[in-house]
Amino acid sequence: MANDELDGKVAIVTGAASGIGLACVQALAASGARVVLADLDVDATARAAETVRGDTLAVWTDVADPGSVDSLVDVAVDRFGGLHAMVNSAAVSGESVPVGDYSTESWRRVLGVNLDGVFYCMRAAIRAMRRGGGGSIISVASVLGRVGSPRAGAYVAAKHGVVGLTRSAAVEHAPDRIRVNAVGPGFVRTPLLDRGLDEERHNELAAQHPIGRPGTPEEVAELVGWLASDASSLVTGAYYAVDGGYLAR
Ligand SMILES: NC(=O)c1ccc[n+]([C@@H]2O[C@H](COP(=O)([O-])OP(=O)(O)OC[C@H]3O[C@@H](n4cnc5c(N)ncnc54)[C@H](O)[C@@H]3O)[C@@H](O)[C@H]2O)c1
Repeated sequence: MANDELDGKVAIVTGAASGIGLACVQALAASGARVVLADLDVDATARAAETVRGDTLAVWTDVADPGSVDSLVDVAVDRFGGLHAMVNSAAVSGESVPVGDYSTESWRRVLGVNLDGVFYCMRAAIRAMRRGGGGSIISVASVLGRVGSPRAGAYVAAKHGVVGLTRSAAVEHAPDRIRVNAVGPGFVRTPLLDRGLDEERHNELAAQHPIGRPGTPEEVAELVGWLASDASSLVTGAYYAVDGGYLAR
């Protein structure tokens, strides 16, 4: 991606304080975008904003709350004059138990953040982008948006939902010049993955990737940056695997 590919553009990244979201903030800012960092963790978001060169703004946001998301988009547009890219990276992992043992509370929380949250962000972004003449929305799905996995029922259901929502929104909003895509990382070493996994399980996960290792947040952010830019102008409604061959097996 050229260094100035996103010059003058405005981007919001949710889940911006950590992992893949933070790497997306850095990639978009490095390409010239003004970036709004949205996250539940206010201190980590402020610290993250300080590490990024360029024009940034940190906004406390709960993506599971539609009012919080609407005001995030309003603040971004007020501050920077428009919205060109929305990256939905915020998510939680939920309980690690089979569906038969899954609690209603954890199910609601995972769906509330990982699917409802993406819908609220997509809806608010579409409204702002329609007013501005177009834009690009990228949601971070997962290989678990394409295949099942043990002890992750709510997460898997939510990620499959994100892929379906992406396709519908892409078809509906192509005439508005809004592109909507999803990226599907394999396993990536971030705090989300590290919580609750021992080294043995990490090695097992690495072995499931034909390239023999999990991905890095930066490798995912590279794809997100391209999808945010006009270089991907023909691409909409797509699910892009960025998974070291995980789904190719
Ligand atoms: N790490 C992996 O192996 C992996 C693999 C495939 C997909 N993903 C997806 O990538 C995305 C980023 O994951 P990560 O690994 O960087 O996770 P992470 O835990 O490092 O970061 C997630 C961020 O989301 C924020 N967040 C959580 N709930 C929120 C809410 N309600 N509102 C606003 N912010 C909230 C957290 O505070 C955190 O900063 C997620 O969508 C995840 O499902 C991760």
